[in-house]
Amino acid sequence: MIKLGVNIDHVATIRQARGGKEPNPLEAAFICEKALAHSITVHLREDRRHIQPQDVASIKEHVLLPLNLEMALSSEIIRFALKIKPRSVTLVPEKRKELTTEGGLDVIENLPRIRQATKQFKKERILVSLFINPVKEQVEASAKSGAEFIELHTGDYANAATSENRNKELEKLKNAASYALKLGLNVNAGHGLNYTNVRDILSLPGLQELNIGHSIISRAVMVGLEQAVRDMLALMNQANS
Ligand code: PXP
Repeated sequence: MIKLGVNIDHVATIRQARGGKEPNPLEAAFICEKALAHSITVHLREDRRHIQPQDVASIKEHVLLPLNLEMALSSEIIRFALKIKPRSVTLVPEKRKELTTEGGLDVIENLPRIRQATKQFKKERILVSLFINPVKEQVEASAKSGAEFIELHTGDYANAATSENRNKELEKLKNAASYALKLGLNVNAGHGLNYTNVRDILSLPGLQELNIGHSIISRAVMVGLEQAVRDMLALMNQANS
């Protein structure tokens, strides 16, 4: 069975818009657990724009599902991850101004740093996944890094404007997944996946887990809005009667 990791960053994005306490990502993680998701993913960004360190700590403490921490290769966040001990870390590139993670990690360029971090994580029994573009050379470098997993970046597939381009991107993902399996890596995938484009991705060879965030949180707003309005009206009507 292919597993689903739900990325709940954007619950925190809404909270941070007011700087208050709601909605609480911990509560969101409990709901994902109740809905039988397989893991919770959060991205502690260096600019702390959504998830905060306290969110990660309380999810790790209170939620039974495995926690996957997406993070940049920064020494501050590495120290934090080693202290919190999530089930896995997914190493991603990070730029301050980007709207979301753009492109995969350049494993070739950063191999010595990735190897060193991977060693530290392995000592603490934390699994390491590398978020990479579906490119042969990046898969090869990942296999040399000591990481157990790659997460294939599905953004170009998700954003393809024509079905011809989408099929080309799907082919690249399939080839990269097959090659990764051959080199002994486990394969996850994610980014930009939604209720219409996920189906074809399920056919990636050896796929173990998808990490999906924005589309699930967006849908949650739409499927939950009617009830939220009804609840407020019920309260107001009680007060009026
Ligand atoms: N996987 C990784 C490594 C990511 O950086 C993100 C975005 O935080 C996701 C998956 C989820 O992407 P989306 O929110 O587009 O579903």
